[in-house]
Amino acid sequence: MKPFFGTEHDVIMLTCAGTGALEAAVVNTLSPGDEVLAVTMGSFGDRFAKIADVYGAKVTRLDVEWGHAPTPAAVRAAAAEITGLKAVLLTHNETSTGVTSDIPALAAAVRDAAPDALILVDAISALGAVPFAMDAWGLDLVVTGSQKAWMAAPGMAMAAVGPRAWAASETATMPRFYLDLKRHKDTAAAGETPWTPAVAVMYQVDEGLRLMQAEGAEAIFARHEACAAASRAGLAALGFELFADERYYSRTVTAAHVPDGLDWKSFNGTLKERGLVLAGGQGKLKGRIFRLGHLGSVTVEEILGALATLEAVSIEHGRPVEPGIAVAAAQRAALAAGGVFSMTVAGTPA
Ligand SMILES: Cc1ncc(COP(=O)(O)O)c(C=O)c1O
Repeated sequence: MKPFFGTEHDVIMLTCAGTGALEAAVVNTLSPGDEVLAVTMGSFGDRFAKIADVYGAKVTRLDVEWGHAPTPAAVRAAAAEITGLKAVLLTHNETSTGVTSDIPALAAAVRDAAPDALILVDAISALGAVPFAMDAWGLDLVVTGSQKAWMAAPGMAMAAVGPRAWAASETATMPRFYLDLKRHKDTAAAGETPWTPAVAVMYQVDEGLRLMQAEGAEAIFARHEACAAASRAGLAALGFELFADERYYSRTVTAAHVPDGLDWKSFNGTLKERGLVLAGGQGKLKGRIFRLGHLGSVTVEEILGALATLEAVSIEHGRPVEPGIAVAAAQRAALAAGGVFSMTVAGTPA
């Protein structure tokens, strides 16, 4: 996994959901009372902030309007205002809104304002699907989860830990046992895990990595870019207004407004009957947006199929949609984005 994290440092395998790895990031590096800046742009950023708060950190929030991304200037200003800032929490890809933040620019802003602050990053829902460079960007701890780009079932989370985070763990006093990263590192050196691991998921992650290595990072990134472009163009052609600030569109999930007047429950019910499962909005966006995921083993061909279903159901539900319009727009967008339509491994479909 190290090349996908862009790190030479340790990658620790944990048996837990992604949230467990967020908790590990906090409790292994911080002590109660530590000053923490939580930059949040959605419900997963809120969760990261909440974890630090629950464990007794002194959390200052920088709340960014949902659908938008934090600016380096705002992060720099917020970090500069906190005396003795110990850590900054950042979300790479906010799955609840379909926004990807500019992590290298935000990390540089933190370093500018607070050179000693740790930078802890939730990269759960895009790492492996988009370029990432933990070491070059100066990040201290980065987490992801097995069920995302790694194409496995849920049940494992991975945390890449840099030297500054390891140093912080030596003095961090937040309580930890199951998620003690040092204990994981030490047992891994002996070829073991400290507790019973999710063995089945570990095999799946291993297989996911085999497929990813065979496909190649560049092809994976291009495929995700094409899927995202196709999704955006197809949804827009169906008359759905996209939710996120276009400068920060995610390449792994696309969010769109539920239009006024559309009976979402009934519309979504028909989609489900046809086998298309879309995610709804979370938190304050519940009932206001829906989300189309395109992360992992998803291909443009599958996105075209999903859009064809959305198109047919739209027509059935009386929306003014010209047959074929979404699929055509999506195909054009995918071609313009590089034309990677399928997932190929050494020249053959995976
Ligand atoms: C950005 C982000 N952070 C955290 C999580 C939480 O991961 P889990 O549901 O595996 O605990 C998710 C899950 O979708 C996520 O997308």
